Amino acid sequence: MEKIVDYISINKVCWNTRTDHHIESEFYQLDAFIKGASSLNPIELDLLGDIKGKKILHLQCHFGMDTLSLARLGAEVVGVDLSDKAIDKAKELTNQLNLDARFICCDLYELPQHLNETFDIVFTSYGTIGWLPDLNKWAAVVSKMLKPNGRFIMADFHPYVWMYDNDFKKIQYSYFNVETIIETESGTYADKEAPIETQSIGWNHPISEILNSLVSNGVTIQKFNEYDYSPYNVFPGMEEFSKGQFKFTQFDRKLPLIYAIDGTKL
Ligand SMILES: C[S@@+](CC[C@H](N)C(=O)[O-])C[C@H]1O[C@@H](n2cnc3c(N)ncnc32)[C@H](O)[C@@H]1O
Repeated sequence: MEKIVDYISINKVCWNTRTDHHIESEFYQLDAFIKGASSLNPIELDLLGDIKGKKILHLQCHFGMDTLSLARLGAEVVGVDLSDKAIDKAKELTNQLNLDARFICCDLYELPQHLNETFDIVFTSYGTIGWLPDLNKWAAVVSKMLKPNGRFIMADFHPYVWMYDNDFKKIQYSYFNVETIIETESGTYADKEAPIETQSIGWNHPISEILNSLVSNGVTIQKFNEYDYSPYNVFPGMEEFSKGQFKFTQFDRKLPLIYAIDGTKL
């Protein structure tokens, strides 16, 4: 692979810029969340099960809506994210809603330097590992943060989806992790008309790389699920076929859109 550019600085600017617009966006429905709605989806809720009293670490938590939704279900939560703007907002929401949650702003790979404890569950979802170049390092952090027999729960977009160009008209990128993907985008997935232009650096990770990185770091896979719908309307050409389930019309609903993992640390 080619030399990795300073992706941390570039992605931090990208996520800080996006965060301001995400907070205001219809996509994130912050008002409904403040009034009590959960931002979690059935896919991850089904895998998480009863989390009352569980200690949960939420990796790449953005501005904390999912983390705080876990707290509302009775979990003791810690959220981690690279974006200081996102973490500031997460802390503000925690105070505003009088919830109990801790948030840490750092690069995921550096988390062990900021957090010296272990968790019943490590959770991460929707738009996560594509920002990380090395999944072996990611899985080592997941494993280090889990108690023995702790669970790793993840739901994310299927790597097949990341092969497409931004218009979802043609295959642009390899399914395999063969290149650093540098993109400049106008607007954001949560507000296509937002008056911002951001550069971002990412990587495609095939399913084999995801599962092998976890297994080789001591996380046994209990369940691996694939879904033909997304709970989010984020890509061009999607339609809501049933409530909360979006599919591509142009691909005749035949694509995998989401995968989910339920793993246990040995
Ligand atoms: C798509 S969002 C997370 C998804 C979450 N489901 C949401 O929409 O609220 C991706 C998050 O990853 C964070 N991120 C990107 N690179 C990171 C890194 N190296 N370490 C920690 N967080 C990172 C970004 O700041 C952003 O908040």
